[in-house]
Parts: sequence; C-alpha cells; structure tokens
Amino acid sequence: MSHYSIAVIPGDGIGQEITPPAVAVLERLAEVIGTFSAEYTMLPWGSDYYKQHGVMMPDDGLETLKRYDAIYFGAVGSREVPDHVSLRGLRLKICQGFDQYANVRPAYLLPGIPSPLRDKQAGDIDLVVVRENTEGEYTGAGGRPHRGHPAEVAVQTAVFTRSGTERVIRYAFELARSRPRHHLVSVTKSNAQEFSLGMWDEIFEEVGADFPDVTTERMLVDAMAARLVRSPESLDVLVASNLFGDILTDIGGAIIGSLGVAPSGNINPEHDYPSMFEPIHGSALDIVGQNIANPLGMLLCGAMMLDYLGQPEAAQRLTDAVQAVTGAGHTLTPDVGGNATTTAVCDAVKAALG
Ligand code: IPM
Ligand code: MG
Repeated sequence: MSHYSIAVIPGDGIGQEITPPAVAVLERLAEVIGTFSAEYTMLPWGSDYYKQHGVMMPDDGLETLKRYDAIYFGAVGSREVPDHVSLRGLRLKICQGFDQYANVRPAYLLPGIPSPLRDKQAGDIDLVVVRENTEGEYTGAGGRPHRGHPAEVAVQTAVFTRSGTERVIRYAFELARSRPRHHLVSVTKSNAQEFSLGMWDEIFEEVGADFPDVTTERMLVDAMAARLVRSPESLDVLVASNLFGDILTDIGGAIIGSLGVAPSGNINPEHDYPSMFEPIHGSALDIVGQNIANPLGMLLCGAMMLDYLGQPEAAQRLTDAVQAVTGAGHTLTPDVGGNATTTAVCDAVKAALG
C-alpha cells in the first residue's frame, strides 16, 4: 500500500471552511478503497499568518513543503492583505518556486449541475485549459520609478521564455494526445502582442510537428471568450498564457455552473517538486462564516491529486461519488441552486464512497 504525506494549506476565507471536511472525505476514501494511506499536515499559512509574522509563509516554507508528496491548497485573499502581497507571497511563491509550470484546469459539466448556457447536459462541456503558470504576465518584472511624482511611470513586463513556452505547449499536446478527441487550441493575442505571443505561435507550430495525431487551431483570446459561451462543446484542450488562462478559466467555471465546482492542479510534470491542487475560486469573503461554500471543486482537486500521485482508481472513485451526489440533486450548495451546507455536501460525498 502506498503512503503519502500531504501538506494542507487551507489559506484564507472559505479555504478554511472547505478544506477540513474535504480532507475528511479523502481520509474516508483511503479507508474504503484500501490502496493508499495518507497523512495530512495542516499549515497555518495565509493572511492570518501574515498579520502575525509579516509574511504569508515562513521564509523556509518551500524547504518545508519539499518534504511532502503533494500540496492541497484552499484559497488565498483577504481584506487585510493587499492582493498582490497575498498572491506573490504564497500561491505564486509555491507555483514559481516549485516550477509548477502547467496549471491544469478542467471544466466538466457535472450531472445535476445546471449550466447557465441553454440546452447543455452533463458532459456536453468537457474541456481542459492548460495555463502557463510560472512566467508571462505574472512574472512580476517591472516597477514604478518616480512614484508619487508627475514623472511617475509604471512598468509591468510580461516575460515569455522559449523554454517556458515550449514546455507548457508540449505538456498541452501530450494531454490532448491522451484524451479521446486529440484536439488542442492555442489561445493568444499575438496580433497585438507580436513579440511575446508571436514567439508563442511559432513554438506552437514547431512543437505541433511532433504531434501529427493531434488536430490544432490557433484562436485569439477575445474570440475564444465568445466561443466558450457560444460553443464550449467544440473544445477539448486549450493552452494559454498565465493571464489569459486565468481569465478563460473563470468563464470555464461559470459555464459549468459555478467556480465552486472547478478544480485545478499546479503541476510540476517532472515530479522534481510537489505539485499543488487548488480550486480555481478565490477566498469568497462575501460568504465566509455561513457554511455554504461549495466544496466540490476542492474535492475534485483531491481526485486530481490522487491521480497525480498514482492512484487513478481512488481518483475515479471520488469523482464518481461527487457525480452521484450532484446527480441526485438534493444536496447542493446555494451557488448551484441548492440549500445544503458545505459539511452536508462533504458528508453526502463521504456516504456515496460506500
Ligand atoms: C486563480 C486566481 C488567482 C490568480 C488569484 C486568486 C491570485 O484568480 O488562481 O485563478 O490570479 O491566479
Ligand atoms: Mg483566476
């Protein structure tokens, strides 16, 4: 039996509400399926930690996290800490520090979850966005010389490296090859950003030559935003830069009924470092303390994490349990039309595990 050490970072806001019951579901899954065991170490990092220590995580936090097999992450963002501080001090520090260059974001319409799009049934939306996760628009290169003076200038530079672009595109091609439809769309704005995304386009063509079995398209991000609304069923795998991937995956979460059901994996494909699994929603401060946050995205992150760790049967068992609960339709949180609590949904998934 495999044993895993999982670092758990509930983080901020609803992250602190969805993470503990989701861990309890994973513990139940281990008991039921018997193919793995895991220990979960809760790390109190996030905005509360910042208020005490002036940093989102300890300076040696990455050294601590290296000892774990994977990271289970709730959410980041609070009213007391500026967003760029909480982002860079925790999530980006881990994603960039651990070279988690493929942020894999599936958007799958679950049974029993209504899409805001007309006439969409379970599975009609089944796409995956691969978001570059270590550079691009999130590099943090720039500054504000003459700050506070009339001569002030703000420079925020997106940095695209050939190696960083090539590796995420190759990862997306491999993923498209592994899915039934073998289709990959590269999304850029290279007509306006001809240097960075012009290079991206060239690399997409170069790498594509190694994947003659994958059909490809290139689409500009504004057109892709419309296509996600008009015909999401036409999409299989998308690959995009850090910022465009961020924006498109909120549309992806919206069209499958709620960002609360959308998981993601910040993957270091080489397994040189632990990967991190987090729902794509944020800390949802507006619903904190009401026990109504949707835990399904967090639970599906658990399935992605188990798949990554080499436990596909357990991952499928959890995914099936989630779909059994959504398909039954009577234990859903308010964001998807129900009146159940976070803990009630987790208890229902736990029961559905058998
Ligand atoms: C996401 C979120 C984060 C991001 C925010 C919370 C910093 O939007 O993970 O999609 O911009 O990457
Ligand atoms: Mg986002």
